[in-house]
Amino acid sequence: MAVRTVLRMGDPLLLQKALPVAAFDTPELHALIEDMQDTMRAMDGAGIAAPQIGVSLQVVIFGVDKNPRYPDAVQVPFTVLINPTLTAVGDEIEDDWEGCLSVPGLRGLVPRYTRLHYKGFDQHGNGIDRLVSGFHARVVQHECDHLNGILYPMRITDLSQFGYTDVLFPGQDIQED
Ligand code: NI
Repeated sequence: MAVRTVLRMGDPLLLQKALPVAAFDTPELHALIEDMQDTMRAMDGAGIAAPQIGVSLQVVIFGVDKNPRYPDAVQVPFTVLINPTLTAVGDEIEDDWEGCLSVPGLRGLVPRYTRLHYKGFDQHGNGIDRLVSGFHARVVQHECDHLNGILYPMRITDLSQFGYTDVLFPGQDIQED
């Protein structure tokens, strides 16, 4: 168990395509997920992908608790998602603000599919198959982009909507993700 260093934008490892996990329920996989969890919690993130700690495997974790500081924030169940496949449901797209542990201090307005069907496996090899929308769909698209070497700034269509969090949202305590 350890809080690992999160790679920051500019590191070529963040631009690599991650490899699928070949074996579930192994000590190595459980240790990786524990480190990801420790790192995400220490940095107060909503999610993290294995490549962000330098491990080029198709593993993401995410989850957002109900937080009294953010009464409007939607709860997303804590999830370990391995070897994911994502399919947009319909073609509706919505813009919302995103941040990233690999792009500290900044936020940008990112278009994402509103509704999403995602599949994959947990760390024990059990199947995951969910139909989600809104913030949950956004978090999954953001985290799974990391597995394809894509960081959210690469998705921003209007770069005037990209800036420093404390300048964009003065006086607000905004969670990184
Ligand atoms: Ni990120």
